[in-house]
Amino acid sequence: MSKTTMRLDRFLALTNAAKSRSDAKKVLKMQAVTVNGTICRLAEQQVDPESDPVMVNGVLLTYRKYRYFVLNKPAGVISATKDRISETVLTLIPEADPKDYFPVGRLDKDTEGLLIITNDGAFAHNLTSPAKKVPKTYFTKTEGQVSEEGIRMLTCGITFSDYTTKPAKFEFLSYEDGFTECLLTITEGHFHQVKRMFHEVGNDVVFLKRIAIGGLRIPEGLMAGQYKEFSREELDEAISQLY
Ligand code: URA
Repeated sequence: MSKTTMRLDRFLALTNAAKSRSDAKKVLKMQAVTVNGTICRLAEQQVDPESDPVMVNGVLLTYRKYRYFVLNKPAGVISATKDRISETVLTLIPEADPKDYFPVGRLDKDTEGLLIITNDGAFAHNLTSPAKKVPKTYFTKTEGQVSEEGIRMLTCGITFSDYTTKPAKFEFLSYEDGFTECLLTITEGHFHQVKRMFHEVGNDVVFLKRIAIGGLRIPEGLMAGQYKEFSREELDEAISQLY
């Protein structure tokens, strides 16, 4: 038996043939589940997801070891797998078991926008590693008018007690009713980085939304709180596009 085997109830849950492992037991009882062509009702039956054909009512289940969900994070949820008090981003994706899935990087509780949830650690590491310099673009609304000197500081680098920011891209959108709207693109992901940068130049952030990771944008029509599954190929292609 290969070391990649898993219990049949887990396999059914992972392939969405059942909503959960306990639901899988019902599926096994009620429906014709075959493993290698033989009907099986045992939840604890070991299957090799890579090589054992498993069918439910004659339909072959396809197993993806790694999955990628693009979430339009709403404000008010935490970028974590579990929290004792607040709702987490994982609660918005019922198909992603928080035991295996996690957010790639983090957005603050009050920050909205693009967040990838996956169970692929190597992918996450690549995307968040500062060495890879993947640009992340934030729509930012700040108090006051961002000065020329502020823009120079934001784009050239700001030295904090713990690090100096790498050069960033600033794009002015509007100034209205005492607030500036702009886009800031950074290639790092320090804690509260965008808010700290704007605070340093005298313009506190009142609204923050991540709108792009590389060339990946929030999919059209995807409302706050909704998510969409991408294949690895689709995601790599979108991210590598120019923003
Ligand atoms: N920078 C911040 O300050 N907050 C975020 O959530 C993301 C980037």
